Amino acid sequence: MKANRKFSTGATGLIGGDYLHLISKKHREWNIAALVRDPFKANILQEVYPSVEIIPGDLDDADVLEAESEKADVILNFANCDHLPAAEAIIRGASKRKTPCYVLHTSGAKIIAWEMESQPQTWGEYIPHPYDDWDGVRKLTDVPTSKSTPGSVLPDWAAHRDVDLAILHGHHNHRGIVRTAIICPPTVYGPSRFPFFTRSIQLPRMLNVFLRRRRAFTIKGNKNVWNMIHTQDISEMYVLLTEAAVDQRPGNLWDEYGYYFSEHGEFVWGDVICEAARLGYEKGLFDSPEPEALTNGQVSQFWFGGQMNVSSTSLGSAQRASKLLGWKPKSRNIFEDIERTLDAEAKLLGV
Ligand SMILES: NC(=O)c1ccc[n+]([C@@H]2O[C@H](COP(=O)([O-])OP(=O)(O)OC[C@H]3O[C@@H](n4cnc5c(N)ncnc54)[C@H](OP(=O)(O)O)[C@@H]3O)[C@@H](O)[C@H]2O)c1
Repeated sequence: MKANRKFSTGATGLIGGDYLHLISKKHREWNIAALVRDPFKANILQEVYPSVEIIPGDLDDADVLEAESEKADVILNFANCDHLPAAEAIIRGASKRKTPCYVLHTSGAKIIAWEMESQPQTWGEYIPHPYDDWDGVRKLTDVPTSKSTPGSVLPDWAAHRDVDLAILHGHHNHRGIVRTAIICPPTVYGPSRFPFFTRSIQLPRMLNVFLRRRRAFTIKGNKNVWNMIHTQDISEMYVLLTEAAVDQRPGNLWDEYGYYFSEHGEFVWGDVICEAARLGYEKGLFDSPEPEALTNGQVSQFWFGGQMNVSSTSLGSAQRASKLLGWKPKSRNIFEDIERTLDAEAKLLGV
């Protein structure tokens, strides 16, 4: 078995692909194994990063995940923050090691929008319930017990929380062997440097719906707010965390302290929608430069569920990575990326 082995899922995606780009330049000494399900993308990856070992497979291949996790000193799970069996297989594999294994798992900031998510009548309003990963970290990492007081930890039913809990149980149940860090991205924008098409989630999907209707729309003016981060800034955080894992750096980096929001600023969804409407009209892609005011009920008829992702408020202040790892994100302007994203979605739709 190769020493110093890193195992990654999701290396052909937006964030994982950018991370691969960075470490292929900065850490040639690391041995990287990447789970890849698509043979076409596996070929691209192999061509551009010949030293990466491709592990053909899917997140449903629990045996493969478990075996590969057992071989790795650091695991990066970028692939799907809702795939519980994959997270469980990773923890099973990691727990079999005799020496510490660092699991860097990717969650998502919908987890802290649970109050609004459960109340569709609030969508589009600004109802802040801020979290942070420093003083408030235990709200995110504590596993609820019968003694937990209401509000002291995230509810089990919050989005992505079942998978976060599987990761957190990993360090609880295998102290000192399974070391965990959960990275929680907000709205990710900006291109990845992975050499094939990648696409973020909220902004592209929303613009895709606008393009198909030839008009932008808002719910209650979308006064709701999210944090944002550029793809190439969040990938830096993963590099810093991997370096800390390789060094087995002590301090409040892991386990019950191992939760990392990854934002650099916040934005109002209604402002992004208005700018998209203006641009779409200017490009002849929309019939109006103004968004249409719709009710949540109306939007549900053609975008059921999707609208929650852009109509809730999610605020999670990123402090831990800056204080402990020297993380310094540079970009803070999702507005600069609307045109590129709109053009990419228009191309996908052939309009
Ligand atoms: N982008 C955001 O704004 C954002 C915000 C919050 C949280 N997140 C979370 O962060 C993680 C990474 O996001 P991303 O934007 O980089 O996603 P992405 O671009 O869609 O990439 C996902 C990666 O995971 C792989 N993958 C997905 N399902 C798989 C499966 N069943 N088996 C094997 N591989 C699989 C994909 O492979 P293929 O290339 O074959 O598709 C791809 O490499 C995800 O969990 C996402 O939910 C993202």
